[in-house]
Amino acid sequence: MMARAIEWLDGKLRILDQSKLPGEQVFADLDSYHDVILAIKEMRVRGAPAIGVAVAYGIALGASGIKTANKDEFLAQLNQVMQTFAASRPTAVNLFQAINRMKKAARGDGVAEIKKSLINEAKRIHREEITATEKLSQLGAELIKDGFTVLTHCNAGPLATAGYGTALGVIKAAKDQGKKVSVFATETRPLLQGARLTTWELRQEGISVTLITDSMAGYFMKRGEIDCVIVGADRIAANGYTANKIGTYTLAVLANAHGIPFYVAAPTTTIDLSLTSGYQIPIEERSPEEVTHIQGVPIAPEGIRAANPAFDITPPSYITAIITEKGIIRKPYTEGLKGVGSRFS
Ligand code: MRU
Repeated sequence: MMARAIEWLDGKLRILDQSKLPGEQVFADLDSYHDVILAIKEMRVRGAPAIGVAVAYGIALGASGIKTANKDEFLAQLNQVMQTFAASRPTAVNLFQAINRMKKAARGDGVAEIKKSLINEAKRIHREEITATEKLSQLGAELIKDGFTVLTHCNAGPLATAGYGTALGVIKAAKDQGKKVSVFATETRPLLQGARLTTWELRQEGISVTLITDSMAGYFMKRGEIDCVIVGADRIAANGYTANKIGTYTLAVLANAHGIPFYVAAPTTTIDLSLTSGYQIPIEERSPEEVTHIQGVPIAPEGIRAANPAFDITPPSYITAIITEKGIIRKPYTEGLKGVGSRFS
């Protein structure tokens, strides 16, 4: 059985440290919200839905650690905790959805009651994410034909969702329906989520996978070896513009040039109807060291300038369909997304 990415155990948050995979399977028990924030920033927990779940549990942990019995003081301190989470990673909207849900759940007659309500809400968010990713995977599997070879980018499996997976969930569900499916996984520089995590998860599922470097995708498309591309998402704006791991846009343009369907699979918690343009999505800039080094080893001359945007935006014109747990949405996306997405402030 696949190790759980996130688990609430005896009042602590147990995470599988994704930064150490596939070499070591290390679990960390986080008992303070500071530890959860650090784990998110250092990408020991990563992937938009998994970040949302971790944030919810992290807020519950933060609440448990607040000492005052005065409700107003408690709520003021809780607000601080939530603000610190909001500043941890800016692109994945699931993080902000989770904060919003936890804010609404901070109700009760006294502090003890609110603390309990927050733990229950975090567990509910987690359960809903498991159900949503399972459902969208079943729906998306209809798009995969027997014998298909799918190209995927980054990692959008159980590790990234604390559930069933999105892009990898669809592939897994197709296999469970008895279809023969093979995968090309891009390594996904700079942090190699494809090489380290996607291949690790697919191998455990018994799904045939070939690892390629990011720059090989066009070569294999041109040779007719890719039947479709499926990726996850970190945020989908109301008009269908989609933020996902850097390199997704390049793959979408390539898929379009070769007439290959390009699918985005995401739970509706990844949809942000408050943004009317995709270019309003904040793009996280990470340390240049992630580009100049690979797992701590320098690969460029010391002091060289490097850029490191962690995500890019794919316009809806390149997206064949968006797979959610509430249905498969096709153009025009604005209408379809409005029916399933969430708006929050
Ligand atoms: O920087 P990461 O590893 O958190 O980025 C993850 C991705 O871009 C995933 O494709 C996305 O979160 C979807 S996960 C189901």
